[in-house]
Amino acid sequence: MSDALWYFARGSGVVSLVLLTVVVALGIGARSGRPAFGLPRFAVSLLHRNAALLAVVFLAGHVISLLFDPYAQLRVLDLVLPFAGSYRPLWQGLGTLALDLVLALVVTSLLRHRLGARTWRIVHWLAYLCWPVALAHGLGTGTDRAVWWLWTIALTCAAVVAAAVIWRISPSFARFPARAERRIAPRLRPHLEEVSR
Ligand code: HEM
Repeated sequence: MSDALWYFARGSGVVSLVLLTVVVALGIGARSGRPAFGLPRFAVSLLHRNAALLAVVFLAGHVISLLFDPYAQLRVLDLVLPFAGSYRPLWQGLGTLALDLVLALVVTSLLRHRLGARTWRIVHWLAYLCWPVALAHGLGTGTDRAVWWLWTIALTCAAVVAAAVIWRISPSFARFPARAERRIAPRLRPHLEEVSR
């Protein structure tokens, strides 16, 4: 039984990292406001949201299985308070920090209409911190941290996020005006930009 938990914990951790990578890339694609990755605009946003929710499901599986794993010896406190654990406190703490950030991103997105666009957007920038923190955790703490396949997955994920971020900061990333926006009076456009952020 404990072997099954341990395998599940490792597998769900790796799947979470891959999903977070997909979420970051799709989030940047959605922000571009144009069709991306061969998908129409609405599909990019929808996939971004659903991939994020799926990542949360796998993350829940990751931490709950570790909570019951006799080797990990995690306490509930270790799931919320970073760097408080006794086993590899730095690397495990990075996992806790990434989890806290994921929860902040998901909760503020679910409450986006109540919080307002500006607050949501400020919190959403934390995604750029969350992803490398999760990557460092996976490479630093896992049983498979010295195994080729984990490094292959991690480097592929890093390449995907790096490509998306380079696209995001490139001049060609200028926001693609939607049809409705293109029809709107020029004097209202700055206001619309502010609201849609
Ligand atoms: C965004 C959040 C997280 C992601 C993406 C993530 C991902 C990963 C990955 C990829 C591994 C390596 C698995 C392997 O070696 O095959 C791992 C291992 C591990 N994670 Fe996480 N993790 C996250 C959060 C957490 C949290 C909150 C905790 C608990 C405080 C935690 C505890 C552990 C432990 C103890 C291991 C070592 C498992 C083992 O090899 O026995 N993780 N995680």
